[in-house]
Amino acid sequence: MVVPGRSAPTLDTTPVPQLIARKRDGGALTDEELRGLFARYLAGDVDDAQMAALLMAGVIRGFSRAEAVALTDVFVASGDRVDLSALAGPTVDKHSTGGVGDTTTFVVAPLLAAVGCQVAKLSGRGLGHTGGTIDKLEAIPGLRTDLSVDEVRRQVANVGLAVASATADLVPADKRLYALRDVTATVPSPALIASSVMSKKLAGGASTIVLDVKAGDGAFSPTVDDAEALARLCVDIGRAHGRRTAALVTDMSQPLGDAVGNALEVTAAIEVLQGGGSTRLREVSLALAAGALELLGRTAQEAAEEAAAALDGGAALARLADLIGAQGGDVRVVDDPRAVLPQAPVVVDWAPPAGRVRTLACRRLGEIAGALGAGRQRAGDPVDPAVGLEVGVRVGDPVDAQGRGPRGPVVRIHARDDAAVARATAALADAVEVADEAAAGPPLIHRRIGFAADGD
Ligand code: URA
Repeated sequence: MVVPGRSAPTLDTTPVPQLIARKRDGGALTDEELRGLFARYLAGDVDDAQMAALLMAGVIRGFSRAEAVALTDVFVASGDRVDLSALAGPTVDKHSTGGVGDTTTFVVAPLLAAVGCQVAKLSGRGLGHTGGTIDKLEAIPGLRTDLSVDEVRRQVANVGLAVASATADLVPADKRLYALRDVTATVPSPALIASSVMSKKLAGGASTIVLDVKAGDGAFSPTVDDAEALARLCVDIGRAHGRRTAALVTDMSQPLGDAVGNALEVTAAIEVLQGGGSTRLREVSLALAAGALELLGRTAQEAAEEAAAALDGGAALARLADLIGAQGGDVRVVDDPRAVLPQAPVVVDWAPPAGRVRTLACRRLGEIAGALGAGRQRAGDPVDPAVGLEVGVRVGDPVDAQGRGPRGPVVRIHARDDAAVARATAALADAVEVADEAAAGPPLIHRRIGFAADGD
C-alpha cells in the first residue's frame, strides 16, 4: 500500500531573493517558508541558481536544528512513503553519511535479510568525492534501481530486501537537491546531510534505522565530535518520528575497503561476503548489522555472533543474489564479480618509494577516482562503472622496494585511457605519503550513539 505524501494547505510565497538574503545574513527560515520554497522549486518556479545560492549561504552560515527538522519533513512530504507495516518480521534500514571505499550496504543489507529482517533501503548516488550505493548497484549489468513505491514493498515481501533510488515517487525533493549539492560544493552541512539521510529513511518506512556516520578527511564531518553531533541530530530526528534509531561514528581518514570506484567496490563487497576481502569493510559491516540487531533487543554479544554467523555461513551472499535477481541484475556476479562486471581497458600499478605508509589522503583518493570517471563533475553526468583505484595498503603498512604492500600493489589504477592514468599518477604522489617509521591509523569505530546498552 502506498501512503500518499501530505500536501501543505497554503504555500508561503516570500520572494526567493529575500529568503536567500536572510540566510546570507545568518537568519533562519521558518517551516512554512521552507515548505513553500521547495514546493516552488519542485514546480519549476525557483531555479537551480537560486536554490544553489540559498544552499551555499546555509552551508557557510549554518542551518539551525529546527531548520534541519523542517527540511526533513518537507523532503518526506514531497513524495510518497513506503508502508511496510503489513510485512512479517522487523523492518530495518541502514545508511551511511558518505565515504570513500564504503560499500557496507552491499554486506549489511543482505546480512540483515539473512537473519530475518525486512530491509527496504532508499539510497543515493555519488556525492562530491564520495561514492553512492545506487551508482555502484548500477554497475551490475541489467540491475534496476528506479523502483516504484509498490515495487519496493512487493520485493521486500517476496525476497526480504530491496535497494532503490529516490525517484519521482520517493523523496523527489532530496533527489533534486542531492544532485544540485553534488555539483555546487554544498554537501558539507550537518542539517542538509541529516535531512537528506533521514528523509530517505523515514519515507522508506523501516521501524529500525542504523546509521554509519563517518568522521575524518574523507567524510563530510572532519572531526569525531562533528560526526557525533551529526549522528545525534539524525538519531533525534528518527526517534521523534517513532523509529528505533542509533548510529556508529566510524573512521574515514583512509578508505574503508580496498577499492574506490563503482564496479571495483561491488567486487570488494562480494569478496567480503565470500569470506575474504577487506577486514576493515568486514568489521564495520558486522558492527552495523549487529547494531541493528541490538536495537531489536539482542544483547551486544548475541547480536555480534548472529551477524558473524550469517556472514560466515554464506547466507548473506545468497541474499545479495536474491536482491540482484529481483532487480533484474546478472546474479552470476556473486560467484565471479570480475567476470561479470565492466572492466577498465587500462590497468596500471603505481607505488610510492619504499617505507611505511603514513597517510592515505582519503578525500584526495575519492577525488582521483572521481576524476577517472567514477564520479560526476556536473549534475546528471553518467559515471563510468569500470574505473577507479584498488588500494592495497593501510596506514602503517610497509611498502617494499618493488612497490608492493603486504597485499599486492600499493595502488592499481583502472582507467579509460593513458591520459587518465597520467593524471591519476601525478595526483597520487600527493595522496600517499610514506615515512621511515611506522604510524598507526585511528580506530575503526570511534563512538556508539543511541544504544540502550550504553545507557544512551
Ligand atoms: N548521504 C545522503 O543520503 N545524503 C547526504 O547529504 C550525504 C550522505
